[in-house]
Amino acid sequence: MIADLRELDRRTGGPGGARRVAWTEGWREARAFVEELLSQIGISSERDEAGNVWAWLEGDREHAVAIGSHLDSVPSGGWLDGALGVLTAVGVMRAWVSAGRRPPRWLALVDWADEEGARFGHSLFGSSAFSGTLDAPRAGELRDHAGHQLADVLAADGVDIGRVLDAGRRRARLARYLELHIEQGPVLEHGGLRAAAVSGCVGIERHRCQFIGQTGHAGTTPMGSRRDAGLAACAAALEAERIAVDCGGTATTGSLVLSPGIPTAVPGEAEMLVDLRHADAARLRAMLGTVLDAARAAAAARHCELRAERVWGIEPVEFDKTLVLLAREACAEVAGSDFVLRSGALHDAAEVARVLPAAMIFAPSIGGISHAAEENTSDDDLIAAINAFGRLCANALVSRRPTPERRA
Ligand code: HGY
Ligand code: MN
Ligand code: MN
Repeated sequence: MIADLRELDRRTGGPGGARRVAWTEGWREARAFVEELLSQIGISSERDEAGNVWAWLEGDREHAVAIGSHLDSVPSGGWLDGALGVLTAVGVMRAWVSAGRRPPRWLALVDWADEEGARFGHSLFGSSAFSGTLDAPRAGELRDHAGHQLADVLAADGVDIGRVLDAGRRRARLARYLELHIEQGPVLEHGGLRAAAVSGCVGIERHRCQFIGQTGHAGTTPMGSRRDAGLAACAAALEAERIAVDCGGTATTGSLVLSPGIPTAVPGEAEMLVDLRHADAARLRAMLGTVLDAARAAAAARHCELRAERVWGIEPVEFDKTLVLLAREACAEVAGSDFVLRSGALHDAAEVARVLPAAMIFAPSIGGISHAAEENTSDDDLIAAINAFGRLCANALVSRRPTPERRA
């Protein structure tokens, strides 16, 4: 599996980082590689209406255990984010096929489409279409920085925005969902842990704040009479940071675009994208309210107008307690580490958990670094986490423990 990951990196990454932004050529190339690996073990794949890729391995009992993650990356992303889970899923299928054994239950591999939302700001596109929470008409209207509309970009890839929710039909064939992923943070490394179970994911509010002031000449517009939208946005970004620290959450201004964006003009417009996260839904809402108030105040202080719009959001999610326990046991038995943590990063499992029992295992990240070309995990830690995940899959395939009722 590690050799496959390195080959994927050779084809669609390299020293500059992963080049697999969803709906681009690099992403399609990565998917073709996975198709190639599956065909080597005699398994074909299919695409659903939302662009998710599925592959099935027949087992004794119906209602498959689904395993997977995402192949898409952020621009210049890491080699393991998402790819680890998909290529491990290929490896799990390969292990059953090459052992010449039929699993006790069907296995489904899934490569979710556009987990990252890097281009249009909408994370978990494919998995939210699957779970049914996607607001398809609204998502279809989202635009990237170049002004391209998501619906048109999907259409060019053969995905009809009007039909994406039909991806949910596959829910009826599944019993549970498991995902292996790197932690993308420092907790496991600090604790000397090789693998850990994940209890759930934080909630997110992602908003676009547009500050509108007045463009003017850099040399002649007096400092006291400017309507500088850029500085209003900067002040709001700094306030968001302070509020997040106060509230025990995170605030990230990951994009700040000033217009006209030249050194000789006061910016008359600024667009700020802010991503707020908290494990507690009520605190996340409160944090959002405070940040929007602060943005309004920052705009008013510089005589600018503020237009704020929600790009996307998700409530905090708890994973299935029985599966989390199984994940914990697998990590303890195979990797020697019994630990459960909540994810500050977002995962497709957060969407799937709304409709199926779901759980995750994390592998450590060196230096806690991710969404960067430097992202890495030692081979020994990858092997430990992959083996723990393999054990979890084996146990989930035979588990007769009652799983909680499926949610509607
Ligand atoms: O945004 C996230 O947390 C994830 O890495 N997509
Ligand atoms: Mn990511
Ligand atoms: Mn990921």
